[in-house]
Amino acid sequence: MTGSRWWKDFDAGVAAALPPGSRVLDVGCGDGGLVDRLGELGLDALGVDPAASAHARLIREPAEHARGLGTFDAVTAVMALHHAGLDAMTSALARLLRPDGRLFVYDFDWVAYDDRAAAWLARHDSFDADNSVAGWRREHGGLHPGAAIQGALAARFEPLLKVRRPYLARMLARHDLEAQEQALIDMQVLPALGFWMIAGRARVT
Ligand SMILES: C[S@@+](CC[C@H](N)C(=O)[O-])C[C@H]1O[C@@H](n2cnc3c(N)ncnc32)[C@H](O)[C@@H]1O
Repeated sequence: MTGSRWWKDFDAGVAAALPPGSRVLDVGCGDGGLVDRLGELGLDALGVDPAASAHARLIREPAEHARGLGTFDAVTAVMALHHAGLDAMTSALARLLRPDGRLFVYDFDWVAYDDRAAAWLARHDSFDADNSVAGWRREHGGLHPGAAIQGALAARFEPLLKVRRPYLARMLARHDLEAQEQALIDMQVLPALGFWMIAGRARVT
């Protein structure tokens, strides 16, 4: 997975929420594009991913196995949780985050895909893909639904913000369609498949 397709705009939000020099770990960092970008924005960023590219700031292993990294002011996870073992992964996220740190997640809820989304995709997808609801469910059925991701996060984190975000335009790599997708989500004409979440560590009582 390369490029800024998934973390576009998310990078600016993370950087704006943190003091310069904050330590950030990008879980599921892929080629390290977000790590590089957060570095450009003044943060001290590292990435972890079993499929990480060779890069001085990336650690090539599953986040659950990462040891000796210390804790981070923020952890980001962009499109990285929907196929992870959620209990082990959220435990690792909680271990890697400082008690007053912030977790930033962008992921998607494939279950929300419906006939309206299928019709929108059919209008804009230039590939000969099966965009039917049945086809979509066949393709995505092995992934965690958004509710499972959010439920697992809620067991260890306190959600501070959840924003309904586009997904389909990014899937098509059509950033020019993203404002339209967001407007249709806001008008409840399209389901929101994407979501951004910011969370803090849950308080131990
Ligand atoms: C859909 S890609 C997203 C990559 C990147 N975040 C982006 O925005 O382009 C999901 C990534 O999660 C990584 N991943 C899967 N399981 C992981 C784990 N247990 N720990 C860390 N990364 C993992 C995969 O190797 C893959 O690079």
